Amino acid sequence: MVIFNAKDDGEPMSPKIITVANMKGGVGKTTTSVTLAETLTVNNDFKVLLIDCDPQTNATLMLTGENAWEKARNEKRTLNDYFFWPFIYNKREPLTSFMVENASDLVISGTDRTPDLAVVPSHPDLPQTEREYIRRLVLQGQDLNGVRDHVVSMMQNGIEELGDRFDFVIIDCPPGISYFAEAAILLANIVITPVTLDYVAKYGLDRISQFLTSPVNNRDGRRRSYYALPTKFRNLEEQRARLDLIKNHHPVLPVKISDSVQIARAAYWSSTRRTFASKYGSENAEEIKLLGEAVLDKMTELV
Ligand SMILES: Nc1ncnc2c1ncn2[C@@H]1O[C@H](COP(=O)(O)OP(=O)(O)OP(=O)(O)O)[C@@H](O)[C@H]1O
Ligand SMILES: [Mg+2]
Repeated sequence: MVIFNAKDDGEPMSPKIITVANMKGGVGKTTTSVTLAETLTVNNDFKVLLIDCDPQTNATLMLTGENAWEKARNEKRTLNDYFFWPFIYNKREPLTSFMVENASDLVISGTDRTPDLAVVPSHPDLPQTEREYIRRLVLQGQDLNGVRDHVVSMMQNGIEELGDRFDFVIIDCPPGISYFAEAAILLANIVITPVTLDYVAKYGLDRISQFLTSPVNNRDGRRRSYYALPTKFRNLEEQRARLDLIKNHHPVLPVKISDSVQIARAAYWSSTRRTFASKYGSENAEEIKLLGEAVLDKMTELV
């Protein structure tokens, strides 16, 4: 199904970009990235590429398992290698060369079809690559804004070249601040910020909002939206109160993802394919499906 990727003149458009980011760790960024990628492919028949920007490589492991990830590392086909290739070979290689196709351990219910989901795996050396990347660009005379623009254009060019191969690119960001995470936020059509509805939840959202509205980050005039997504929700009075407070200041998706052992367990790669409902449990599967639909709704508001 392609509803966002047809231009009037018939030219294929590049995919829409959904970035999942929060400086705070452990709030469910990776779980959101992976479950969103899975529901958009399995339940909505979209084609999705997930780019794993986190050197912890959790999304990669969740979507490919250890063996495929090790193979990608050995063959130098990770995000790390995509960024480093131009320094070694003096030219950029397309993002598709760094992709593991047929990712995810799901099968589409009632069929033997697998979701059209690919992943650009991450690498534990990504922080060193980022440092070395910056050092080399600074030696070439770039200032820090120039470095960031360079990272943005590396990612942007890679994604634009994908054409209509994918409907959506989902970028899983690491916690904290990094050039890669900033670039992923700047490139996004929609930023999703998972929050665990604790005391600091609002601050994570304040930071994203400030970052997106600061004039220096709006030089391209591109329209971006961000939405909070409550995760690990236990329907506690304190959480509901925190959510009300957040809603006064920030846009919130009309979905909550429950705190569930089955969602946590689903993070472990299964060598036997399973259906979406059996992987997450039917109630969680329904919440995740609603998450996908809420994001699609917000996406249509953008066009
Ligand atoms: N809805 C949920 N219910 C129960 N456990 C969850 C849920 N969402 C995530 N978890 C678990 O919480 C932990 C952190 O989740 P996750 O890795 O998605 O967060 P993160 O924000 O990506 O973390 P990091 O900042 O380290 O990248 C993981 O063990 C994950 O399985
Ligand atoms: Mg993560």
